Amino acid sequence: MVEISPKDLYEKAKAASRSAYAPYSGFRVGAVLLTEEGDVFSGCNVENISYGLTICAERSAIANAISSLGGKIKIRAIACAELEGRVFSPCGACRQTIREFGEAETKVIFYSEEGLLCLKLEELLPFGFGIL
Ligand code: THU
Repeated sequence: MVEISPKDLYEKAKAASRSAYAPYSGFRVGAVLLTEEGDVFSGCNVENISYGLTICAERSAIANAISSLGGKIKIRAIACAELEGRVFSPCGACRQTIREFGEAETKVIFYSEEGLLCLKLEELLPFGFGIL
């Protein structure tokens, strides 16, 4: 089983943010995910002049992983980072998308005012949508 520390995954996400296309917000985000099998995929935010068409870094990383491995992937961990290290947490749409390809124990890593956080998806998205 491949092990990457939360800090390493965060640093990889920060490196991925260099590819971001964010001319409208100036907020350049990268994301890196680790699958259960140990594969690593990255993504970045891709903005659009029609702002609502923007794709977040986390969903870009997930689309990248599925493009290579198909929809059966399971996300073991996913980190996101802003280029300058600014704090933010994944948006609601990304949390729900992580849920689609993750599980309750999937780790979500991001930098907060308290430092680096590594939370379980169930903590970050309690009662996320799913058919019960
Ligand atoms: N953004 C992400 O890439 N991920 C998130 O979880 C939150 C927001 C991007 C979208 C937009 O390009 C920029 O950050 C500012 O909202």
